[in-house]
Amino acid sequence: MSPISLASGYGNFLPASEVTSRVVNLLHVGRLPVSPVEGLLALREALAANYHQQDGPPITPFNVVVTPGTKAALFALLCAVLHPGDEVLLPTPNWFGFWELVERAGGVVRELPLSVANNHALTPESLQAAITPRTRVLIFTNPNNPTGRIYQRAEVEALLTVTRQHPRLFVLSDEIYDGICFNSESVPSLLSFPDPNNQHLVVNGFSKSLTLLGWNIGYLVAPPAVARACTRQQFATGGAVAVPSQIAALAATEARTSITTTLRQQLLANRQRLLDFLATLPGALPYAPGGTYYAFPDLRAFLAPDLAPAEASAQLTAKLKAVGVVVVDGATCGAPGFARLSYAVPVAELTEAIRRLAAVLQ
Ligand SMILES: Cc1ncc(COP(=O)(O)O)c(C=O)c1O
Repeated sequence: MSPISLASGYGNFLPASEVTSRVVNLLHVGRLPVSPVEGLLALREALAANYHQQDGPPITPFNVVVTPGTKAALFALLCAVLHPGDEVLLPTPNWFGFWELVERAGGVVRELPLSVANNHALTPESLQAAITPRTRVLIFTNPNNPTGRIYQRAEVEALLTVTRQHPRLFVLSDEIYDGICFNSESVPSLLSFPDPNNQHLVVNGFSKSLTLLGWNIGYLVAPPAVARACTRQQFATGGAVAVPSQIAALAATEARTSITTTLRQQLLANRQRLLDFLATLPGALPYAPGGTYYAFPDLRAFLAPDLAPAEASAQLTAKLKAVGVVVVDGATCGAPGFARLSYAVPVAELTEAIRRLAAVLQ
C-alpha cells in the first residue's frame, strides 16, 4: 500500500496559461532585463496598486521588496525589526515554520493559545493581556494556516485598537492564502487599515492562491525604512529573484481574479468531500474553515490518555501513517491532538485517504 500524503502545504495546481506564455515569450527574446535587488519596478508597482490604506498615504513600490519566497520575506522582516531576545507573540495554532524563523532571527516565540471552542477567536482582551514590554512583533496569519480561520474586518479592527496603544510593536500579517476564501466576504488585508504609527508589515506570495509553486517568489510590504533594511540584507546575502519568476509573478498578479476564481472552483468538490467525512466524527470540526485548502480537525478523542499531549499526538500521527495517510501533526503547529489535512490533492487520492482514515477514526 503506497502512502497518500495530505501533509504537503503545496497543492497539485498548474500555473495559469497566461503566466506560462508570458515567461515563454520572455525566454524567446533571449536577454533578460537586469533586476534591481528589491525586484522589478513593474512588479512592485503592480503589487503596490493592490493595496489601499484607509486614512493613509498610498502604498508605493518603495514599500515593496520582492523576495525568494514568502519564507524569505518573513525572515528579512524579522531580522530587520528584532533585537536579540525580543518576544514575538504567536497566536496558536499557527504555521509550523514560524518557530524556527523567529529563533533564527534572534527572537523568542511566546505562544498565545486560541481555542477551537470559540472558532479560534483572538479577542482584544486576550491580546492586551499577552503583550509585555518585551513584545516586539505580533504574527497574524489571515487566513490562518492550519485552521483555515478567516479574521473578518471588524475583528481585525478591534485587535488594532490594542496594537495602536503599543507603538513599538509591529504587526506582521502573513496573507499568503488570501485568495483562497470560501466565505462571502473577502480576506481583509492588514494594509487596508489605518496605520498611524507605521506598525504594519505584510508578507504574501504566489505559491498558494496564485498557483506558482516551484517559482520561489514572494514579497513583503513595509514602511520604507524597514523595506530598505530588507533590501540591504537581500543585497548582502543574496540577490534579486530570478527574472522569469518575477515576470511570472507579474502575469499572475495581473490575472489574479481569474486565477483565484478558477482555483476556488477546482477546490470546492474536494473541500466538501473532506468536510462531509469530518462531519461523521463527532465534535472534530465544529466550524468549517473559511479559507485555505486545509481542515484542522480536533482528534483529541483519539489520543492515548496515559501519554503527554505531544507524545500522544505524535503517536496518533504515526498510527495514521501506518494505515497509509500522512498528515501534519497539530503539535508542530502548537496544537497537539489536532491534524492538518490538505484537500488540494487529486480526488482519487483524497477518496482513498478518507477510506483509510475512516478505518482508524471511529
Ligand atoms: C503561512 C505560510 N507562510 C509562508 C509560507 C512559505 O511560503 P513560500 O513557499 O512562498 O516560501 C507557507 C508555506 O507553506 C505558509 O503556509
